[in-house]
Amino acid sequence: MSAQPPGSKRPAKIRIRHPETSAIGEGYDPALSVMAVRPPIYPVSTYCFRTAAEAAHFFDVALGRAERAEGSNELIYARLNNPNAEMFEDGLVALERGAGACASFASGMAAITTAFLAFLRPGDVVLHTVPLYGGTAHVLHEMLAPFGISARGVDAGSTEALAREAASLGDRLAMIYVETPGNPTLRMTDIAGAAEVARASATRTHRRVLLAVDNTFLGPIFQSPLEHGADLVLYSATKYLGGHSDVVAGAALARDEELVVAMKKVRSFFGTICEPFTAWLLQRSLATIYTRMVKQSKNAARIVERVKEHPKLACVHYPTLFEGGQRRIFEAQCRAPGGMIAFELQGGQEAAFRFLDGLRIARIAVSLGGVETLATHPRTTVSSEMPPHEMDRAGIGPGLVRYSTGVEYWRDLADDVEQALALA
Ligand SMILES: Cc1ncc(COP(=O)(O)O)c(C=O)c1O
Repeated sequence: MSAQPPGSKRPAKIRIRHPETSAIGEGYDPALSVMAVRPPIYPVSTYCFRTAAEAAHFFDVALGRAERAEGSNELIYARLNNPNAEMFEDGLVALERGAGACASFASGMAAITTAFLAFLRPGDVVLHTVPLYGGTAHVLHEMLAPFGISARGVDAGSTEALAREAASLGDRLAMIYVETPGNPTLRMTDIAGAAEVARASATRTHRRVLLAVDNTFLGPIFQSPLEHGADLVLYSATKYLGGHSDVVAGAALARDEELVVAMKKVRSFFGTICEPFTAWLLQRSLATIYTRMVKQSKNAARIVERVKEHPKLACVHYPTLFEGGQRRIFEAQCRAPGGMIAFELQGGQEAAFRFLDGLRIARIAVSLGGVETLATHPRTTVSSEMPPHEMDRAGIGPGLVRYSTGVEYWRDLADDVEQALALA
């Protein structure tokens, strides 16, 4: 009689209740990595096959000619797939409620453009919310036009306006693209409402209309678009997922695995996959995402409470201060207000620049979601490609400063904001 190896009687699995637990290691199986407690790095470009027949089979699987066997990994070449990308993807699936599959990318823009290239065809129109991250707006309005794909913007927050535009586009509407909260004003859009508009359009026109949501600002911890009817969730993983301002990466998730498979196919040929070291760092970051994001959100809420009535501020855009329709959206789809704040200074650009130059803890930089506090003037930096009238329409005024709250001690940050406001 052969003895059972020690440990073989461990219970298979228990139900995980909370992302605090999932974030630590769900999706990672030590048995696939020499029982290492944490994931090793595989800085490898190509993988060898046991036999020539196995190589042929792996290609059949990669090209969709054969089914993937349960538990096998079919590694071929790191542009198609790599173990670190897969481990990060599995970790993120465990955190993103409603997700069935994930694909990781070399940047947020790689994830977004790969989604456009996978799902749009000549003649299609994308309906998107305004404001939108400048890079995404640029791809939609400038780079897709030569391929016969066009885009139309609708002010964030109005399901009625989205429905009106969708109806006017008929069967040319292929995708509704929502960024909520929108960058940089934090204006929110009702995801369930947008899903209803997509469904109604699909029923009318007998064609699929995908709802894609850029969830970069609130992340899987505070907002779950797939549970509200989105088909696709997109991330700049450079932000909260990475969380340390030391990687550039992206991710896409869906309930329907077929959507992710379609994106991975495009990813293989365009070479937009996340490389192993970056994916390893991202997976390392996932272990602290809950702790970081909760702290950043608490810090931001406290700073806002301290300075919201400051005489140098015309207004503060932050979810806890929302009223009316914006408040209803926040309460219906977000679990916390998050770490992003938009301060609107009295005195326009000059005051905004004096405020930024006066900050002593927060650094002046683009990007967001890292452990360190960063601030920027969107009108002259990240949104500056937009024509002035569009920036005005989107609420990106000369006095607007975007503030990404880090994990520092909140009173130090609030003191910093107050002393910089005094100089503004
Ligand atoms: C909301 C949002 N989406 C997408 C992106 C693009 O991501 P990346 O810079 O990782 O390509 C950004 C970048 O700032 C962003 O803020």
